[in-house]
Amino acid sequence: MNLRIAPSILSADFAALGDAVGVAEAGGADLIHVDVMDGHFVPNLTIGPLVVAALARVARVPLDVHLMIADPDRYVDAFADAGAAMISVHVETVTHLHRTIASIKDRGVQAGAVLNPSTHVSALGEIARDLDFVLVMSVNPGFGGQSFIDGSEAKIARVRRLLDDAGNPAAVEVDGGVDCSNAARVVAAGAEILVAGAAVFGTSDPAAATRALRAAAERGLN
Ligand code: DX5
Ligand code: ZN
Repeated sequence: MNLRIAPSILSADFAALGDAVGVAEAGGADLIHVDVMDGHFVPNLTIGPLVVAALARVARVPLDVHLMIADPDRYVDAFADAGAAMISVHVETVTHLHRTIASIKDRGVQAGAVLNPSTHVSALGEIARDLDFVLVMSVNPGFGGQSFIDGSEAKIARVRRLLDDAGNPAAVEVDGGVDCSNAARVVAAGAEILVAGAAVFGTSDPAAATRALRAAAERGLN
């Protein structure tokens, strides 16, 4: 288990994203989570490859790029070129998930599949061996600052079991409404990468908040 904290810059000041990355890193962030939204798959619009490329120039930790876009196949190369270390795609957006995952890996980027809250874990049954990580959404995607959906811990545990049964040590990531009140529970359920937006950048001291989240998460180990 390699517990990683991934602050989401969605809740940071978009006029000062480079500073936000630096502050999160000062708090011990292991990854920077970047939420890409297209106004089609989700109602919100955020950022594209140009901003990811700018972030890659200042970030010292890997960029974890979460694509909430229709037809992500069109943009895998652009985000890989921009410097993404991890790219995840929603299973709800792709017809040929195996091909999409292979195309991400072909670029030397870690490939993840994302499940919306209403999407059953069995959607990953035939591809569990091939994934570098699985992202379990614990809110409906589109906005930061939403409440964690109860029952997501059980889903995390089911994904962990699916990967274990496939002999795949890939990490389970959780995204949405994660904070110090539920961090230990999601880790105990099997989450290894914790994304947090509001719980980090919605505070007056994002570095301290990142450290606090890690301390809370570590209480879920063992
Ligand atoms: C939601 C995004 C999340 C978001 C999480 O669609 O995928 O990454 O930034 O923000 P919080 O932690 O505030 O729920
Ligand atoms: Zn996200």
